[in-house]
Amino acid sequence: MATYKIGYFVGSLASGSINRILSKALIKVAPEDLEFTEIPIGNLPLYNSDFDADFPPVGLAFKEAIAASDGLLFISPEYNRSIPGALKNAIDWGSRPWGTNSFARKPTGIVGASPGGIGTAVMQSSMRSVLSFLDAPQLNAPEAYVRFDPEAFGNDGEVKDPATETFLRHYMDEYCAFVQRVLAATAPGHIGDSDPDTAK
Ligand SMILES: Cc1cc2nc3c(=O)[nH]c(=O)nc-3n(C[C@H](O)[C@H](O)[C@H](O)COP(=O)(O)O)c2cc1C
Repeated sequence: MATYKIGYFVGSLASGSINRILSKALIKVAPEDLEFTEIPIGNLPLYNSDFDADFPPVGLAFKEAIAASDGLLFISPEYNRSIPGALKNAIDWGSRPWGTNSFARKPTGIVGASPGGIGTAVMQSSMRSVLSFLDAPQLNAPEAYVRFDPEAFGNDGEVKDPATETFLRHYMDEYCAFVQRVLAATAPGHIGDSDPDTAK
């Protein structure tokens, strides 16, 4: 069985982040053929286009981490009905310099937890617009809007509630299958390959 490298982003920098707990839970229930590496976002300065002329090592390392990933997973809170600034800043870094968008063709999944019933639905909707513009294929279904119940999760991501575990496991199984499908469809030589040297 092939192993797929998944780079994941936690959209919260808070020490007690429920989305970090969710990220641990998702990794625990994910199929064994997914191998996870966090791509940190908290060390990136605020992006502006002055950086493009001489892209700094911190930005290059961020882009290299994305390039080294077969798929990407975003686990994020919703801030003021949108994407938290730290995560949007990281996405802006990965999208530049112009012409080097790191997200193009990377299979992506978006998940999030909030204490309230909306479960980050509006943030996820905003993320879908951004990732569409960046040409990143997205897992459309199932969706995962998690209303975080502290009784259902241990701090290390163990899932104590069977229904929640089944739900998260199903999401990760579908995410894995989606990554495999996208990689197969964008492999060099495939009919959809836009490289004229390898397209058949
Ligand atoms: C600046 C800010 C804005 C927030 N806006 C929303 C929101 O729009 N929708 C929501 O469901 N929760 C909102 N919340 C509450 C967060 O869902 C809650 O703080 C959650 O624990 C944040 O995720 P984290 O624990 O992973 O950092 C907001 C919290 C902060 C600090």
